[in-house]
Amino acid sequence: MPNPASPKAELEAIAQAVDRVATADAATLAELKTEYLGRKAGRLTGILRSISGLPPEERRAVGRRANELKQELEAAISSREAALESEVARPSDVDWTMPGRHRWRGAKHPVASVVDEICEIFRELGFTRVSGPEAETEDYNFTKLNIPLDHPAADEHDTFYLGPGVLLRTHTSPVQARTMERYEPPIRIVVPGVVYRRDPFDPSHSPMFEQIEGLVVDEGVSFVDFKAGIDYFVKHFFTADTAVRFRPSFFPFTEPSAEVDVQCQICHGSGCSTCQQTGWLEIMGCGMVHPAVFENCGIDSERYTGYAFGMGMERITMLRHGIPDIRLLFENDMRFLSQFVE
Ligand code: PHE
Repeated sequence: MPNPASPKAELEAIAQAVDRVATADAATLAELKTEYLGRKAGRLTGILRSISGLPPEERRAVGRRANELKQELEAAISSREAALESEVARPSDVDWTMPGRHRWRGAKHPVASVVDEICEIFRELGFTRVSGPEAETEDYNFTKLNIPLDHPAADEHDTFYLGPGVLLRTHTSPVQARTMERYEPPIRIVVPGVVYRRDPFDPSHSPMFEQIEGLVVDEGVSFVDFKAGIDYFVKHFFTADTAVRFRPSFFPFTEPSAEVDVQCQICHGSGCSTCQQTGWLEIMGCGMVHPAVFENCGIDSERYTGYAFGMGMERITMLRHGIPDIRLLFENDMRFLSQFVE
C-alpha cells in the first residue's frame, strides 16, 4: 500500500513489523528491510515522504510517530542482523579439523601403460593394433607356426590344455597366422595380449603374462628393414643412446632368428645383479618370417618376405621402473600400484 488512505492506520500496520523482525531468518529480514525501509517503495519511506503534503494538524503527530517507528525498526533490524551473524560464527557440530574423505583416482596399471606406449611407437611406423583369442587350437599355436607337436615348446609341461587340440595360447604368435590367412599383404600389426605357460610363480616367472607380437609382411622386406624397425623401437622406448645388439637364436617360425639385448637400464652396461653382471638385458625374440609359415598361411613365399618379433611386457615394465619381482605386477597391492598414478 504505497499510498494509504489513512497514514495513521498505515503506521499502526507498520508497527507490527517490529515483532516480525525479531524472529526473521536472514532472507526474510532482507525482505522486511526492503518492504518497510526501501528507498524507492518502502512503506515507511513512503509515509515520511508524504508528510509535507498532509494537512498541518496531522503533520506533527504522523511525523513524530513515523520517525519513532523508523528508529525502532532500524534498531530491531540491526540487532537481528547481529544475532544472525553470531549464530553463523558460533562453533557448531562441524569439526573443521577432521581430515577430508580420501578420493580414489583410477589409473592405468603400469603394464597397461607400457603396452600402450609401445603400440603408440609402432603406430608411428604404420602398425595396426589387433588382437586374437586366448583359447587357441594346437594348429594355430604350433603347427601353422612350423612348430612340430613333438617340439619341446609343445610339450604338455609348458602348455595348459583345455581339451584335445585346444589350449591356452603359449605366445601371441598364433595371431600372425590368423592375420596372414585373413589379410593380403602389406601387413603391419602389433598384437598385445596375455599368454599362459606352466611356469612357477616366482620373482621372474608367472604362469600368465602379457606379450606384444609384431609382424610385417610385404614385397622386398629385408633384414635391414627388420633391424631398422627394432632399432627404431628400442631407441624410442628406452633412450636414443641405448646400445642394442642382435644375438643369433632359434625359433621354428623365423629364419634367421635373433634375440635382442639392450644395454642394462640399471647399471648402464657396467654389470649388476639385474643383468647378471653381463651389462645386457634380453628384451625380445625375433627374426625373418620362415617361408614354411607363409606357405601354411596361404602367402606366396617367393613373392613376400617379412619379419616378426615377440616381447614380454612384464619384463620390460620391470626394467623401465626398476621393479625387482614380477609378482608385484599381479598382486594389486594399492601401496605398490598407487606409485604409478600420474
Ligand atoms: N613367440 C616367441 C616367444 O614367445 C617370440 C617370438 C615372436 C620370436 C616372433 C620370434 C618372432 O618366445
